[in-house]
Amino acid sequence: MQQSVLILDFGSQYTQLIARRVRELNIYCEIHPYNKIPSKLANFKAVILSGSPNSVRGENVLHPDLSEIRGKKPLLAVCYGAQYLAHFSEGKVAESNTREYGRANLSFIKNNEAFFKNISEGSQVWMSHSDTIKKLPENGVLLASTNDVENAAYKIKGENTYGIQFHPEVYHSKDGKQLLENFLVDIADVAQEWTPDSFVDSTVNAIKEKVGNDKVVLGLSGGVDSTVAAVLLHKAIGENLYCIFVNNGLLRKNEFESVLNQYEGMGLNVKGVDASERFLKKLEGITDPEGKRKAIGNTFIDVFDDEAHQIKDVKWLAQGTIYPDVIESVSVNGGPSATIKSHHNVGGLPDFMKLKIVEPLRMIFKDEVRRVGASMGIDKELLGRHPFPGPGLGIRILGDITSEKVRILQDVDAIFINGLKEDGLYDKVWQAGAMLLPVNSVGVMGDERTYEKVVALRAVESTDGMTADWVDLPYTFLQKTSNKIINQVKGVNRVVYDISSKPPATIEWE
Ligand code: XMP
Repeated sequence: MQQSVLILDFGSQYTQLIARRVRELNIYCEIHPYNKIPSKLANFKAVILSGSPNSVRGENVLHPDLSEIRGKKPLLAVCYGAQYLAHFSEGKVAESNTREYGRANLSFIKNNEAFFKNISEGSQVWMSHSDTIKKLPENGVLLASTNDVENAAYKIKGENTYGIQFHPEVYHSKDGKQLLENFLVDIADVAQEWTPDSFVDSTVNAIKEKVGNDKVVLGLSGGVDSTVAAVLLHKAIGENLYCIFVNNGLLRKNEFESVLNQYEGMGLNVKGVDASERFLKKLEGITDPEGKRKAIGNTFIDVFDDEAHQIKDVKWLAQGTIYPDVIESVSVNGGPSATIKSHHNVGGLPDFMKLKIVEPLRMIFKDEVRRVGASMGIDKELLGRHPFPGPGLGIRILGDITSEKVRILQDVDAIFINGLKEDGLYDKVWQAGAMLLPVNSVGVMGDERTYEKVVALRAVESTDGMTADWVDLPYTFLQKTSNKIINQVKGVNRVVYDISSKPPATIEWE
């Protein structure tokens, strides 16, 4: 069995980053809420306590019983975690006079070769806390301080227990990853064996065991997650995987045909269903964004249900769910809230949703999905595709949707996206697309006055879509693209570029 690290989450905004850094070290880890410590602790070789927006002295206290962990397994306590250890072992935590945010530099007090291996005196670390440890816990040995924080790193004598006030998981802690490696590999002796290849092997075996000779149905979207999930399943069960790719009429220009071709070339057993008319009919007259999402979502379910019924004896539904969707979130108020996104455990659902669920990507992050896809030989271009919303162009056509508007936006979008590719800009942008605005503006073409549509181009940088900034595309590119759109797309006489960041704007306009 592969070695694993347990990350106990106290609700810090950085908890997922800890997991990603650990995975980057080729070490498998899982995040669990602080109040749901897994019963099978033997499965974990080391434990990391996350930070928290709470105070150990506060009313909404997060005080789990760590007696089965502390002193029994290598333990690294970060920020709140380090304060928690101190608070409960004769140490003292107090509010600091100033909230301590941002850069600081480490000064070593005691040379601890293993913990600080390859890290130099003065190394920059990132602080984000308002309490501070005034007195170390019992048997605590001070390892490092910063200008403002005396007890920045400590260990507990006789144990493999370490506490650090700073956040090694954020990039601003320059040697943070090295420190995690020192703790996990040198001190906790965890093997670095979690690689895309090992993931593929173990997942293919697990799918075979779980699904056996049963048939599985999966909805392909053209996106990275569903594609990688399909290829993994195909490796495990071959022709027993039935893929359905629905054209909702709101895909990019020629996307249905080209993606379908690509899938067939990959050997997948895939059925393309062109339901454009059905979707457009359902969308007639709907202008409210949520109304559109609902209509598109419901129609998709109907189409998929019809198709799934045609596969005899299908037992499983495969989904491309990824780890951020299944991590239980910890309430910042300290309540043991556990919100799991789940679409398939309530009654009254269509038949295909009553199938048993197989989710081969549920324990990996988006960047890992891409690495896994690459290790299975999936085309680079497919893996590097920008995210595209499920409702597609439906939420980029502001106001009601008609086939003519879809045609206009598809043409505009194709010029923009192909232009980004031609100029080597596509991979520098996290997501790009065009919006068709519900306004006409006056223009002049030749001697004629025009009164036509405005389109907005949007290109953003982001890591996860939660926050985003507009991309400073070269003026020459914008100029060329704008000319091309206005000259070539009938019905558009004005192009604008969206320079809003998220927040406060969102990426999509609807
Ligand atoms: P926003 O507009 O909320 O978008 O800043 C963040 C990311 O989510 C995508 N998005 C959606 N994806 N169904 C989806 O599958 C939707 O209804 C939807 N709305 C937004 C958006 O494209 C961006 O990547």
